[in-house]
Amino acid sequence: MDNYDFKGKKALVRVDFNVPLDENGNITDDTRIRGALPTLKKILNDGGSVIIMSHMGKPKGKVNPKLSLSQIKDAVAKALGTDVAFANDCMAADAMAADLKPGQALMLENLRFYPEEEGKPVGIDKEDPNYDAAKKEMKERQKEFSKKLASYGDVYVNDAFGTAHRRHASTAVVADYFGKDDKMLGYLMEKEVKAVDNILKDIKRPFTAIMGGSKVSTKIGIIENLMDKVDNLILCGGMTYTFAKAQGGKVGNSICENDKLDLALDIMKKAKEKGVNLILGTDCIAADAFDNNAHTMVCSAMDIPEGWEGLDAGPETRKAFAKAIEGSKTILWNGPAGVFEFDNFTGGSRAIADAVVKATKDGAFSLVGGGDSVACVNKFGLADEVSYVSTGGGALLEAIEGKVLPGVAAVQG
Ligand code: 3PG
Ligand code: MG
Repeated sequence: MDNYDFKGKKALVRVDFNVPLDENGNITDDTRIRGALPTLKKILNDGGSVIIMSHMGKPKGKVNPKLSLSQIKDAVAKALGTDVAFANDCMAADAMAADLKPGQALMLENLRFYPEEEGKPVGIDKEDPNYDAAKKEMKERQKEFSKKLASYGDVYVNDAFGTAHRRHASTAVVADYFGKDDKMLGYLMEKEVKAVDNILKDIKRPFTAIMGGSKVSTKIGIIENLMDKVDNLILCGGMTYTFAKAQGGKVGNSICENDKLDLALDIMKKAKEKGVNLILGTDCIAADAFDNNAHTMVCSAMDIPEGWEGLDAGPETRKAFAKAIEGSKTILWNGPAGVFEFDNFTGGSRAIADAVVKATKDGAFSLVGGGDSVACVNKFGLADEVSYVSTGGGALLEAIEGKVLPGVAAVQG
């Protein structure tokens, strides 16, 4: 980025503006927009123009007004300090792109309104005998889609770290249509990749990973991988109740993956074999409804009465989490400890955040990633007090698993 002069060039920039919106379409966390600003501003300041492209949500190849990027156009313009034109159809932006003058910005509608972006055949499942043929056909269409996007710009910049684990048209395939000197990673991408290196190349111990969120199933890969690296592994959030039930506990109405009980026991066994200190919630704040104003009580995570559900970590659990975190020198936090969207169930996540901040003050390197945990530290006003806040969720976890991210590989070759 630094060595490239964008003067007079049209830059096709893939960002990850998949930001959380409330029911009125207002952005509830703009970390990802702020993250992309250095790249966009550098191009505009050089005298180039930008064609900003992103996905939002999972519209599965269909137009869905609730996931229209037009909702965030004004916020992007405000953050950028310049007008942003909007192309309602990412495949029909030829004229608008051609008209761009130096210093001007254009944003394309949600790329995933076209199935070609993801490149997965629609309306046919993997068991279907025609699936392979459909997939092959879609891959061809994806190339055409990518070629069209590429035609809008002279140079391609990938700054979408949050989507770098996807081999999609705009994150990877499009790079094939630019010469090697006309494609690059943006500043945010460079910074994120460096933060991951920081964690992986020079681990200061003890290393504590805190994994939250509702399901064990979506985190199993990273949990298994982290077990070879960490000293302490805190598993919290909704996962707590799958582990509790697996050990014979009663979890009432709590979220629980009944088909993952063996997996939970296996994780416990592996942690023991590898000498990892696995810390699970022992008590919880149970509620009589999934509601911020529900009645609550503190109870054992193993003994939740019928009709009640665990929505946050209990006081004993918070102490155990804080103790492990405060003594750490490297910390990775992904996923909240409770339903933090409800103000009355933020306590567990708050205890984690406070401990992470304290450890950071004592010299630890702390990395917070994943939409929900980032929203959490922002809600607490603590984002500036941890070492690094990543815009990546799945991408960050895959990078930490040691996988090469397709979005990075496509540009770097
Ligand atoms: C995310 O928020 O996880 C990224 O924007 C990628 O989106 P995806 O998980 O729907 O591919
Ligand atoms: Mg995701």
